[in-house]
Amino acid sequence: MAKKLIVGNWKMNPLSSRETAAIVKGVKKESAKYKNAQAVLCPPHIFIGETKKLLGAGGKIGLGAQDCHFEREGAQTGSTSAYMIRNLGAQYVILGHSERRAAGDTNEIINAKVKQALKAGLKVILCVGEKERDEHGKYLEIIGEQLAVSLAEVAKSQYANIIIAYEPVWAIGAQATSADSPEGFEHNALFIRKTLSKVLGNKGALKVPVLYGGSASPKNAREFLDQGGADGLLVGRASLEPSKFGEILKIANSLI
Ligand code: PGA
Repeated sequence: MAKKLIVGNWKMNPLSSRETAAIVKGVKKESAKYKNAQAVLCPPHIFIGETKKLLGAGGKIGLGAQDCHFEREGAQTGSTSAYMIRNLGAQYVILGHSERRAAGDTNEIINAKVKQALKAGLKVILCVGEKERDEHGKYLEIIGEQLAVSLAEVAKSQYANIIIAYEPVWAIGAQATSADSPEGFEHNALFIRKTLSKVLGNKGALKVPVLYGGSASPKNAREFLDQGGADGLLVGRASLEPSKFGEILKIANSLI
């Protein structure tokens, strides 16, 4: 069984290099205890370089960004190229996060970003998820379309660099009333794999990791990773607290 992937999405936090150093130091200490879990940190772009230095060469904690531009380079004021992210030593990029979608990213834009990120040699953590769940399962069409359009023209061979994060939007952030249930996750992860199997076949679809995200915490990590069968977690708020992130790593570590 592969190591569970525990990805910390720091969002627009913290506000200083000093706080960045404190979080990275704390996570390094925790991660060193749990060798059977794979931690990945996704700080804001501006802190990727220093996070890389703080993690040190040859460290086992992965590093990622929270977004990238769909163009390789050029006249895009305020944007960050996938190549810049790669050249700073990061290996991952989160794309299609619901907060980026709310800021204007369509499935088509996300598709262009996915292709550029893969060209740059990054692994893509593609977020999908519905805003609302209806009892008739219509929301699955939204997830199906997010996958089909965002991954259009991605070569089969490139799926080795694709990770899906299923994040129901209603479960994300401080205003969320609850996380999904492990059964809900399992059901939707199955749907995601079924959709991917149209391109990859059943065996290929099983190889794509599917993470859960949305109020993931030390309290529910075991449910999702064990009962729900998630290949990992995309963790927002709890990733800013090394002790909580460490507890999640501990749980992931125990499941291998
Ligand atoms: P949360 O964020 O864990 O704070 O709900 C998750 C995410 O948006 O990736």
